[in-house]
Amino acid sequence: MKELRDLDCKNKKIIVRVDLNVPVLEGTITDHSRIHAILPTLEKLIKNKNKVFLIAHFGRPKGEVIKKYSIEFLCSELKKFLNLNTIHFLANCEKKIFETKIAEMDMGEICLLENIRFNAEEEKNDLNFSKLLASSFDIYINDAFSASHRNHASIVGITKYLPSYAGLSFSKEIENLDKFLENSNKPNLAIIGGSKVSTKIKVLENIVEIFDSLVIGGAMANTFLLSNDYNVGSSLVESDFIELSKKIQKKAESKNCKILLPIDTVCSKTIEDRVNVKTYSINNIPNDQMILDVGEQTTKLISDEILKSKSILWNGPLGAFEYSPFDKSTISIANKFEIPISYVGLGESIEDLVTFNSQNFARSILNLEEQK
Ligand code: 3PG
Repeated sequence: MKELRDLDCKNKKIIVRVDLNVPVLEGTITDHSRIHAILPTLEKLIKNKNKVFLIAHFGRPKGEVIKKYSIEFLCSELKKFLNLNTIHFLANCEKKIFETKIAEMDMGEICLLENIRFNAEEEKNDLNFSKLLASSFDIYINDAFSASHRNHASIVGITKYLPSYAGLSFSKEIENLDKFLENSNKPNLAIIGGSKVSTKIKVLENIVEIFDSLVIGGAMANTFLLSNDYNVGSSLVESDFIELSKKIQKKAESKNCKILLPIDTVCSKTIEDRVNVKTYSINNIPNDQMILDVGEQTTKLISDEILKSKSILWNGPLGAFEYSPFDKSTISIANKFEIPISYVGLGESIEDLVTFNSQNFARSILNLEEQK
């Protein structure tokens, strides 16, 4: 991985991907950590008199220009935190507009681009769009660790067209994760949720070698339950990964890693039906029911495991956490944490690796819920 910390870049035109998907409640940013995280990278680039363009997303406007998802309001925040007089702003991604703005900017100035997800090409990882984003610049920097699991044009495609570097906060996240994995106090616990075994298979294979216990939650657990011959009704499963799920369980056994799967589940006929919600033991899930969260008994099981553990890695929600009441177990578990050296990520919705602070964390879950 090439890193900005090893790069001497002066008087260049640099495009930087940042994660400014900040929680906002009634028009106020309730947690500035994502802004703080990118300051070292931006300060270095400003000090070295580069012209810097920032790409960021906010919420999920799905390729449409929707006013409430505009990020123009972030200009004043960036101005304040970077102690600058001006932050330029561009509403459209067009080469001509980029070139005009670059010519107008002084060295060491910053220009924020409007929510990149207003462009449908972004989430399609459209290479023509990546090429356009790259075309006016010398260097690309990714300082959006918490968005880098997305296969999007400003994260993946763009690296084909420019020399690409990890930003300072990106490097720090990797370093922290490495340190955590090397010095993880035993007994250690990994809680892995989210919807797809397929995207986390490698992680799971490694985890059973390193951790004493592994909780599997989210829709991913359905595939594991099915592989153990439980009926999971109409739940989301990845049939192609049943054999691999069995293999991971076998490997866990041989490595003395205890796997905890749900013992009870919160179900509904569809994710839209949030009224007729019932809890079932995994032994009797009806065919027309979909598992959308783990139940209270499972939550208790996980809580007890947390109390026994000295370090914990968490990635991915335990249920369909964007939709209340299927957020219950995830929020309840988030509130259980008192261990200072835990790393937390919330998978598909708010995948993020943060140093844990239970109060703030629970709050940011709720705030993001409001925002989305
Ligand atoms: C997040 O908030 O988790 C990141 O910014 C990624 O956002 P996304 O889940 O909408 O891709």
